[in-house]
Amino acid sequence: MSRIKFEGVGKHYPNGYVALDNLNLDIADKEFLVLLGPSGCGKSTTLNMIAGLEDVTEGKLFFDNDLMNTVPAHKRDVAMVFQSYALYPHKTVYENIAFGLRMRKHPAAEIDQRVRDAARRLEIEGMLERRPDQLSGGQRQRVALGRAMVRQPLAFLMDEPLSNLDAVLRISMRAEIKRMHQAMQTTFVYVTHDHAEALTLADRIVVMNGGVAQQIGAPDAIYERPSNMFVASFLGNPSINFLEGSITLDGDSVLFKRGQLEIRLPPHIAQKVAGNAGRAVVLGIRPEDIDAHAESRRRETLQGRILSVLPVGSDQFLNVEVEGVKLFFRVDKEDQHKDGENVSFAINLNRLHLFDKQSGQSLVW
Ligand SMILES: Nc1ncnc2c1ncn2[C@@H]1O[C@H](COP(=O)(O)OP(=O)(O)OP(=O)(O)O)[C@@H](O)[C@H]1O
Ligand SMILES: [Mg+2]
Repeated sequence: MSRIKFEGVGKHYPNGYVALDNLNLDIADKEFLVLLGPSGCGKSTTLNMIAGLEDVTEGKLFFDNDLMNTVPAHKRDVAMVFQSYALYPHKTVYENIAFGLRMRKHPAAEIDQRVRDAARRLEIEGMLERRPDQLSGGQRQRVALGRAMVRQPLAFLMDEPLSNLDAVLRISMRAEIKRMHQAMQTTFVYVTHDHAEALTLADRIVVMNGGVAQQIGAPDAIYERPSNMFVASFLGNPSINFLEGSITLDGDSVLFKRGQLEIRLPPHIAQKVAGNAGRAVVLGIRPEDIDAHAESRRRETLQGRILSVLPVGSDQFLNVEVEGVKLFFRVDKEDQHKDGENVSFAINLNRLHLFDKQSGQSLVW
């Protein structure tokens, strides 16, 4: 069992800086939890608190029912993998992986079996006698993972373990880590600033900004029902499009209005903002949530002018100017578009987002 629970946990520095503010989070046994956010938002601080490498200055941290606030790092049965690998340069791969087990005085035969088992799973069996400087970055990272794996800890803590790897290797290592989670049947807490990595790996994501958890939820929920503009814009590439405007009433209809653009809001949004005529809002449309073949249907549309066509292999992005704002849309690669052309897109109303301009909070979810 390894449930990790934060109750009102904070990290307040003596100079008054709040690196983590009032975190309430209950990480289930065997869950894969990802802490996601920009640089400086408090991800490593949170992870290091679990490891015991950083003091909890406010609130309570529990492992199962045990209060951990003052338990020293070496008495916490967790394994940590760092971005920098932190391998011993003069030891072989074998000894690097075996190190934690030797420190804990496991029998030699058992150590040998665990090291070889981990090496086989990570496909570094042939490299056990090499030193770290004789390995590539990806191989070193696998040694670091192997060192954590052999420990069979209560929880794995990983701080941007893949950020030093090239794009191709990063994707194959993601699959490796996912397999490792399935095989180990243990709680994983994983830090990254890469939204794609978070969406791929996580059972749940905590999106953080400025020391504050902005939203906690499954990848789909975070992507499809972001609770504020920060969360909406942090996930997705290209990022969600934002259009500032206001709410206007027209008979029974509730409209989003910006200049010449009028969008009749669907019932589930209209009912939430019908009493807010004149309110300043921000409409959010993800690049993929449009239909380029709009003409024949009676649906809410966006008219704009194509500034540039950007093919990306599998499909293409269009940079389109709508009411003075530059937006990105994703369309089929077969669609024929030219720079300067006027276009009309139907909007997928079920997937529309609307935020309060002042607070940035979602008015929909
Ligand atoms: N001793 C300190 N005194 C004051 N502030 C500190 C101290 N140590 C760290 N901080 C601040 O705490 C904040 C959180 O740091 P943390 O390392 O958790 O960020 P992070 O999300 O891991 O960022 P990155 O993605 O860059 O690693 C940062 O803004 C950092 O400047
Ligand atoms: Mg960090």
